[in-house]
Amino acid sequence: MKLCAATEAAILKAAAALRQGKLVVMPTETVYGLAADATNPDAIRKVFEAKGRPAENPLIVHVADLGQVMGVAAHVPEAAAKLIKRFWPGPLTLVLPKHPEIPAEVTAGLDTVGVRMPAHPVALDLIRAAGLPLAAPSANRFMRLSPTKAENIDPELAEKVAMILDGGPCYIGLESTVVDCTEDVPRILRPGGVTRADIQSALGYPLGELPLGGARKSPGMYRRHYAPRTPLSVVDALEEGQAGLVVGPARSEHQISMPNDARAYASSLYDMLHRLDGMGLDAIYVQRPPSGPEWEAVHDRLKKAGARD
Ligand code: TXA
Ligand code: MG
Repeated sequence: MKLCAATEAAILKAAAALRQGKLVVMPTETVYGLAADATNPDAIRKVFEAKGRPAENPLIVHVADLGQVMGVAAHVPEAAAKLIKRFWPGPLTLVLPKHPEIPAEVTAGLDTVGVRMPAHPVALDLIRAAGLPLAAPSANRFMRLSPTKAENIDPELAEKVAMILDGGPCYIGLESTVVDCTEDVPRILRPGGVTRADIQSALGYPLGELPLGGARKSPGMYRRHYAPRTPLSVVDALEEGQAGLVVGPARSEHQISMPNDARAYASSLYDMLHRLDGMGLDAIYVQRPPSGPEWEAVHDRLKKAGARD
């Protein structure tokens, strides 16, 4: 059986598989990751193949200690050092100048690399046991919802990995915030588990703005992404008979009540969308969550999940 509880023995077995260039699904605090040895180009090619992901979309490299960062990034700019001190381990990915040891396959040929120290004990133990930095995109097929529970992992993807370590539900529930630290002023490339306000307060100055049409800076930013198979629309209110997510009390059996708190909402969003996606509906409707800075990542994911191309 590939799916196993993340015991010490299972973690050691998974670490050995990673050292042999195989793939392992690991839990993190944000979403499950599809992990491979970040220094092995063959292993990295398997990741792209298993996800059906275009080669132009770079992977995040996961580390367990600061020493490891030195083998992944060429250097750590001052702003990045501040953010590391404040938010690692945690749901924050920093884009840094790439170390020559990291193969071009990982970064899709860019001279920068995304690095993150996850806050999940299983991920940290696995990285340490493997003795390797681990490249790990979210463990979903390209464009689809990221799994926040082991049972939500796509069976097609599960076939291509040596092991799936079950670490229970991911408590953040949305991917990490990606911050580009290679320019003078850091910028958010993808909102996520750490809010803009918290990052600005740690830096002591405002983040930069992304230029319009600046998507090339982060090649993985597609208009449609994080999407269930069932068409999804964000609406002001659900009509009678429409199935989906509401904020506050549900009024019919196909409506799922979501919390009115951004963190709690984010933590269950993908799981609820997975559940609705498995119900054979014609459409999923999501009541627009409250506005406000702490909801930025939720709005970003819903917008992409609802995009038509
Ligand atoms: O929470 C997360 O970040 C999860 C867990 C598993 O750590 N990982 C994740 O990976 O969401 P992935 O590959 O699904 O998304 C990584 C994002 C992509 O949008 C990619 O474009 C961006 O990070 N990224 C990675 N390296 C980059 C780089 N060098 N420059 C710009 N963007 C980069
Ligand atoms: Mg992803």
